[in-house]
Amino acid sequence: WSPAQDESTLEFVTRLFAEAIKRAAPSLKDQDPVVQRCAIASFGDFQCNAPMGIFKALKGQGDTSYNSPRAVGAAIADNLPPNSVLVSASVAPAGFVNAKIDNALLGDFCREVAQKGKAPPPPIKAFGGKRKVLVDFSSPNIAKEMHVGHLRSTIIGDTICRVLEYCGHDVHRINHVGDWGTQFGMLISHMEEAYPDFTSNPPNITDLTVFYKNAKKRFDDDEAFKKKSRETVVALQAGDPRCREIWALLCDISRKEFARVYKRLGVTLEEVGESHYNSMIPNAISLLEKAGLTTDSDGATTVFLEGHSFPLIVKKSDGGFGYDSTDIAAIHHRLKTLGVDWVVYVTDLGQAEHFHMCFEAAEKAGWTSSEGRLCHVGFGVVQGEDGKRFKTRSGETVRLVDLLDESVTRMEKSLKDRVAEGKCALSPDEVKSAAEKIGYGAVKYADLHQHPATNYKFSYDKMLSTSGNTAVYLLFAHARLASIVRKASAKGVDAKKAASNKMDLCAHPKERALAFELTQFSGVVASVAEEFLPVRVCDYLYKVSCKFTEFVTECKVLDDARMAERVVLCEATGVVMRACFDLLGIEYLMQI
Ligand code: ARG
Repeated sequence: WSPAQDESTLEFVTRLFAEAIKRAAPSLKDQDPVVQRCAIASFGDFQCNAPMGIFKALKGQGDTSYNSPRAVGAAIADNLPPNSVLVSASVAPAGFVNAKIDNALLGDFCREVAQKGKAPPPPIKAFGGKRKVLVDFSSPNIAKEMHVGHLRSTIIGDTICRVLEYCGHDVHRINHVGDWGTQFGMLISHMEEAYPDFTSNPPNITDLTVFYKNAKKRFDDDEAFKKKSRETVVALQAGDPRCREIWALLCDISRKEFARVYKRLGVTLEEVGESHYNSMIPNAISLLEKAGLTTDSDGATTVFLEGHSFPLIVKKSDGGFGYDSTDIAAIHHRLKTLGVDWVVYVTDLGQAEHFHMCFEAAEKAGWTSSEGRLCHVGFGVVQGEDGKRFKTRSGETVRLVDLLDESVTRMEKSLKDRVAEGKCALSPDEVKSAAEKIGYGAVKYADLHQHPATNYKFSYDKMLSTSGNTAVYLLFAHARLASIVRKASAKGVDAKKAASNKMDLCAHPKERALAFELTQFSGVVASVAEEFLPVRVCDYLYKVSCKFTEFVTECKVLDDARMAERVVLCEATGVVMRACFDLLGIEYLMQI
């Protein structure tokens, strides 16, 4: 037996164990071999945890061929088909079978990665083929400042897109901006009042938040203004040209602000805002009505779903449409018109129920397919170091641009200190560019390296620390690695060229441990594409970097008899680390 083309080692080992189980216990049907990576590396590479369950199942049917789980394990180990991957299988007292894979295989994998300069993605068939995926993320609101919550959505959403793109899916990055809704009534009315000649003399509003606050104050304080604002919304929705013009102006100002943040973060998005779906709402509602899902509640059209204490309001009692209406029309459009297979929404956890209700309604209406997926990735709030909601010292919400600037400024200072101390030899220009990459990378990593559902405490000191699980530590480790490869090349050992020679890359236990870790890359990517947890990429990158540090601490690379082998391993590690940085949207440096 040998692995099929693009079958991962884990898949192949699982297949071997499934066959061994079939042979050892033929009376049992479809036993899951429960194959996992060994938790303790000295036991082996993969373990089969099925023997205990099989022992019980056999006993349950009165079969007493085996007198202990250990005997089941031994029979499974004996029945493994001869194959090209496993070199040994041993049975633990509790019955688990630990298997070790061939060093030559690990070495071949690393040589190929070093030579090709690419870490292999999981096979597309692992997902049942290429999928059309729409990721709805970032999605700030017009005329309001993008806040740290939008930052989280932008960063997490971007990584999810990058992972899906790496796997070869057809990914649509959609910015569902809040460019519609009742707030535009007061904004437009305020524009007409405050800047009556806005067409001939367009105001240079850079800070729409102040404009928004003033409009809101007028709205709250002045009844006549409030009434006018309500009429303006109706006029806007009816397509009044003057209202439309002001609306477009407001959207444009905000759009420029958003674009500045995206440019810095290196994130691309296609804007398809709420307004896009406005004309589709009546049809979507009538489909829900036809499916018998709607109820009239005091003149409003609502959808009640089991287990939820409130309904979706698809049409308000005054006939207007709101957030729920838009999302219903959007989900219908995405599934039925665009033919999207998976839709992923990235917002704060507070909106989880809203989305789950939309998913249920879509399913009940028959818009979903059995192969499709609708997912909400929710995240917790960003807190200051005091554990309270993240605010500036004066109590204002933190502007994203300022936050990114601050991270870069601090990083620049710390790099300058390193230069002064003789720890690095970057020129002033290089310091500036490195500070930007590391500063932005640090903000992203701080967000991505934990489970999205946890609240996280924003701390510049922590995220810019050179030690521990931070972007700074990882980027420094990678730069160190790159410098080893460069030095070897200066000594006449080119990693890529050396990789074409058949060689034993796993003679030392630290080499083997690192090589094995590198083979896990595609499995990690596959799991992120399945469960949308970018933290897995971070954990993996950190693990690789720790294994690398252990390796270089114990094994001399340069001037060693096995220099060529070790440099190839360094290069393969570099390729895998860079692939991880790319997935996280973090720019790496070859030199710090
Ligand atoms: N604009 C919303 C907010 O700031 C997020 C929109 C998320 N996407 C959606 N389809 N509802 O909270």
